[in-house]
Amino acid sequence: MDAKNTPIQHIIVGIFSLLLIAISRFLLETPWSTSLGRVLFILLFLILIIGPIMRLKKPTKSSSPLATPWSWRGELGIWFAITGLVHFIIIVANRPFSNLIKIGDGGFGLANLLGLIALVWALLLAITSFGKIISFLGLSLWKWLHSFTYVIFYLVFGHFIYFQFFSTYGKLGPDWFGYTAVTMVIIVVILQLIAVIYSLIYRIKNKNKKIP
Ligand code: HEM
Repeated sequence: MDAKNTPIQHIIVGIFSLLLIAISRFLLETPWSTSLGRVLFILLFLILIIGPIMRLKKPTKSSSPLATPWSWRGELGIWFAITGLVHFIIIVANRPFSNLIKIGDGGFGLANLLGLIALVWALLLAITSFGKIISFLGLSLWKWLHSFTYVIFYLVFGHFIYFQFFSTYGKLGPDWFGYTAVTMVIIVVILQLIAVIYSLIYRIKNKNKKIP
C-alpha cells in the first residue's frame, strides 16, 4: 500500500468496488458472498501489479493520480479489507463459525482458515495505513509490514483454489472465474519476476559504473 490516502481516490475505489459487486451479483447472478470474494481478488490483483510496475517505471513529478498508479494502493488496500470483512460477515451469518473452521474436516476448513489469516492480516495493514499510525510506526517499519501483502496473496490463492478446483460446491470443477483468477496469479508472479530481474540489472549496472 502507499502511505498517502485521499478522499477523492477513496470515493473512486469505493464506487469501482461496489460497481463490480453489483455487476457480479445482478448481471452475472452470482451469490453475494461469492461476488464479494471475486471482487476482493480483483482488488488484490490491482494492488499487486502496481508494486512491480512501480519498480519498472520510476515515479514522475506529475501530481495526477492517473499518472501515478502507486498512489492508489492505500485506497485499494483499505477497500480490500472492508470488502473482506463483509464477505466474512455474510458467510458467518449463514453458517456458524464452528462449521467453517473444523479440525479434521479436510480442505474446506483449511481453505477457510487461510481466508481468515488473510483477512486478519489485511485488517492489520489497513489499520496501519492511516497517516498518524504511519508516522508513529516510521516509514521503514510501515514498509516492512506492508511488504507482507504478498503473503496475503498466496493465502488467498490457496483459499480460492480450493473452492474453484478442489471442492464440489456449486458446479463440478472451475468456472470462468477459476481460470481468470489463475491467469491473474500467473501475471502477478511474472511481473514480480520481471521486477526482480530489472532491479538486479539496475544494481549490476550501477555497481560497474563505480569501478574506476
Ligand atoms: C481477505 C480475505 C478473503 C478473500 C480475498 C477471499 C476471497 C474469496 C474468493 C476469491 C472466493 C471464491 C469465489 C469463487 O469460487 O468464485 C471465496 C469464497 C469463499 N470464501 Fe472467502 N475470502 C476471504 C476470506 C474469507 C474468510 C475469512 C472466510 C471464512 C472463514 C471465507 C469463506 C469463504 C467461503 C465459505 C467461500 C465459498 C462460498 C462462496 O463462494 O461464498 N473467506 N473467498
